[in-house]
Amino acid sequence: MTQHTAIPNPGLGTFRLEGDTLKRAVTTALELGYRHIDTAQMYGNEAEVGQAIAESRVPRDEIFLTTKVWHDRLTPDALKQSVDESLAKLGTDHVDLLLIHWPSPDDEVPMRDYLTALREVQKAGKTRHIGVSNFTRAQIDQAVDILGEGVLLTNQVEVHPFLQNRALVEHCKRHDITVTAFMPLAVGKVMEDETLKRIADHHDATPAQVTLAWLQALEIVTFPSSTKAEHLKSNLEALTITLSDDELYEIATLERGERIANPGFAPDWD
Ligand SMILES: NC(=O)c1ccc[n+]([C@@H]2O[C@H](COP(=O)([O-])OP(=O)(O)OC[C@H]3O[C@@H](n4cnc5c(N)ncnc54)[C@H](OP(=O)(O)O)[C@@H]3O)[C@@H](O)[C@H]2O)c1
Repeated sequence: MTQHTAIPNPGLGTFRLEGDTLKRAVTTALELGYRHIDTAQMYGNEAEVGQAIAESRVPRDEIFLTTKVWHDRLTPDALKQSVDESLAKLGTDHVDLLLIHWPSPDDEVPMRDYLTALREVQKAGKTRHIGVSNFTRAQIDQAVDILGEGVLLTNQVEVHPFLQNRALVEHCKRHDITVTAFMPLAVGKVMEDETLKRIADHHDATPAQVTLAWLQALEIVTFPSSTKAEHLKSNLEALTITLSDDELYEIATLERGERIANPGFAPDWD
């Protein structure tokens, strides 16, 4: 079994969502059949995510819940405290996936320290799986040296038609690390693209759906966010679309190195 089957696809992203809008999105997604919710300590919405899950008809153990540790809490003690706070807010004794949100800027905290702490949190039963986010190829190699092969479930990175991150995606696959794509819709920009619109018309679908079907064809798990029931439903239905080789090739040509998540503390990208 390849590792990617461990993560339900698609999930629901929750970055920027808060309050009742967030709770409605989580509730609607769960009703529609989503079983994977992605949050983070930094999003400031873990308490509402936890409430929406608790109030839903879906049992907690049927939901794949991900949270993350922010880069300013990577010393072992701070990391463990961050996880305990996240679990308290989420109202659960474990998450399904715990990620290092960003590598420590300029290796301020040595990778060995925070990955060892992450593994200890897993061994303590506070998360089923562990992974990383925004790691480069060199950082993935370093992480595998520290933890061994087969320990990290995923590297969550930006992937959409305008930033396909192919070298990194292939590198993760070689290590049997599932790639999960954030900002899969380029935060809505895919809707404006003429090539995606043309392919979408051919399938009686939307550019967002074509993009999600393309990611699925690449075996990349994703979790678009949406505040609209109609979009949540169509994003789920997108995975029934099969694109032809020609269409996949056309989407591959849309690469333009357009990175959206690029804060000052980001690593030296591949
Ligand atoms: N690890 C990291 O560093 C990192 C960084 C960024 C994001 N993330 C995660 O990745 C998730 C997804 O990224 P994102 O939310 O930034 O961007 P995204 O999923 O690419 O795009 C979300 C935007 O697309 C729109 N949208 C969604 N479905 C649509 C559809 N079917 N048709 C038209 N528009 C649609 C949404 O608007 P409506 O509300 O109107 O539908 C929203 O404005 C985040 O929520 C977060 O969980 C992780």
